[in-house]
Amino acid sequence: MNENPLKQRQSLTDRPAWKALSAHYTAIRNLHLRQLFAEDPHRGERLCAEAAGIYLNYAKNRITDETLRLLIQLADECELRQRIEAMFGGETINVTEKRAVLHTALRAPQGERIMVDGTDVVPEVHAVLNRMAAFAERVRDGRWKGFTGLPIRNIVNIGIGGSDLGPVMAYEALRHYSRRDLTVRFVSNIDGTDFAETTLDLDPAETLFIICSKTFTTLETLTNAHSARAWCIAKLGDEAAVARHFVAVSTNAEGVSRFGIDTANMFGFWDWVGGRYSMDSAIGLSTMLAIGPEGFREMLAGFHQMDVHFRRAPFSENLPVLMGLLTIWNTNFLEAPTVAVLPYDQYLNRFPAYLQQLTMESNGKGVTLDGKRIGYQTAPVYWGEPGTNGQHSFYQLIHQGTRLVPCDFIGFCQSLNPQGQHHDLLMANLFAQSEALAFGKPLEDVKTEGTPDWLAPHRVFEGNRPSNTLLVERLTPETLGMLVALYEHSVFTQGAIWDINPFDQWGVELGKVLAQRTTPELQSVEDPALTHDSSTNALIRRYRQLKTGRS
Ligand code: F6P
Repeated sequence: MNENPLKQRQSLTDRPAWKALSAHYTAIRNLHLRQLFAEDPHRGERLCAEAAGIYLNYAKNRITDETLRLLIQLADECELRQRIEAMFGGETINVTEKRAVLHTALRAPQGERIMVDGTDVVPEVHAVLNRMAAFAERVRDGRWKGFTGLPIRNIVNIGIGGSDLGPVMAYEALRHYSRRDLTVRFVSNIDGTDFAETTLDLDPAETLFIICSKTFTTLETLTNAHSARAWCIAKLGDEAAVARHFVAVSTNAEGVSRFGIDTANMFGFWDWVGGRYSMDSAIGLSTMLAIGPEGFREMLAGFHQMDVHFRRAPFSENLPVLMGLLTIWNTNFLEAPTVAVLPYDQYLNRFPAYLQQLTMESNGKGVTLDGKRIGYQTAPVYWGEPGTNGQHSFYQLIHQGTRLVPCDFIGFCQSLNPQGQHHDLLMANLFAQSEALAFGKPLEDVKTEGTPDWLAPHRVFEGNRPSNTLLVERLTPETLGMLVALYEHSVFTQGAIWDINPFDQWGVELGKVLAQRTTPELQSVEDPALTHDSSTNALIRRYRQLKTGRS
């Protein structure tokens, strides 16, 4: 780790395409979407792309054909194509951790060859998938018995970050396809409430814990896993019960066996799978238990279709590349600090939370690959809620606030729960919101409606607020896979342009170290000598006072 393996590169802002984009932005910054649409009646049909059943309409972005041309030139100058090939080819592109980045291998079909350090990893991937499938079938059909001989009815996934958010999101998204006689729950927070409330009504004799941790060292997960172990043993009265009620998913066999889980009940993966890119690995065991091995394989096939598209399609038709470049445009030129992700589907209620880790842990970086401080913005803040709920909450700010909030609308043409006119009403709202954001309502129109002058400014919608709309026929395991892969590769595209490493996460370390130092200070019987800053010292003292009731 001592030698810097990174070669110096040209700074992003010195690249000809970046400079051209800056000048171009100055030239078109006052253009309104109303004008852009009025001048080109076919804009809405032209500025779209489609792949693997996902239709992206990006016409409501504040761009012209020249913007797109320059963004694609920028991608070329940043060697995006070569970087994509380096990732798919198993090169060590996670340079700060000296690792390949091969989540795409997790969904590679049997027979494909992907080499890491001279070994084809595809057979290993399928071997684990087959073991997971055999296990999932045994649990699902009741052959896997709990300690008292009862079949498993409850699955509790214990993990955090990538070992939680992907599984939760996928379970929620694919609940329609899940076995309704299995209860699937997730514990992530070190707050004891999470474990207590999740297990409150569960019978341990019918409960299986999946301890998911890539490293098997994560404080939250190990603390929850130990509590689960104690809960299980206390209620079933025998340590031997652990073998029937715990399985692990990890890259750390030693850690798993130290915890007391037989490695025969462990499902492995590899250091070339980043936590936030791991929902297709054994980390997805809860998903497979819920929807079955066949459904899981359909999901992987969806991911793979988007992988192939990303690798092969020209940039001008490439969905992840286009979405990534539009984020660069909105972030760095329009200076929008956030992106709202607005799925018009209740099943996608955890999708924004999942995307937060994917996008912000990946691209929330402040130095370039060669370690130079960055002089431009990187990852915007991602956030969101399903529509239409968000409309009655924060859309006011998006429509009339002082900040520009680019939006990703996501909708499905067929409902999984058709009920009267619900679905048409839902989708009408999605289309209406993107239309209102883009075109707004000018003062003249407000006045023409008879609004008094004093009230008119309050009722004006400026419009010119950018959005993408993604339309998919139906939410299925396959289309979910495509959608997630689309965002994964959009994140990759952004990282390549910003010249950062989207695959490390050094920024999470400092807080972990400080918490380790602080824990004994909260627990010691004697008043500890505190050497933090005066604010942290004051907080610790107040906590100790109130915790022991000495106030
Ligand atoms: O703290 C951040 C992080 O390292 C994430 O990147 C990761 O997804 C999460 O913790 C959980 O890590 P593990 O799977 O090793 O428990």
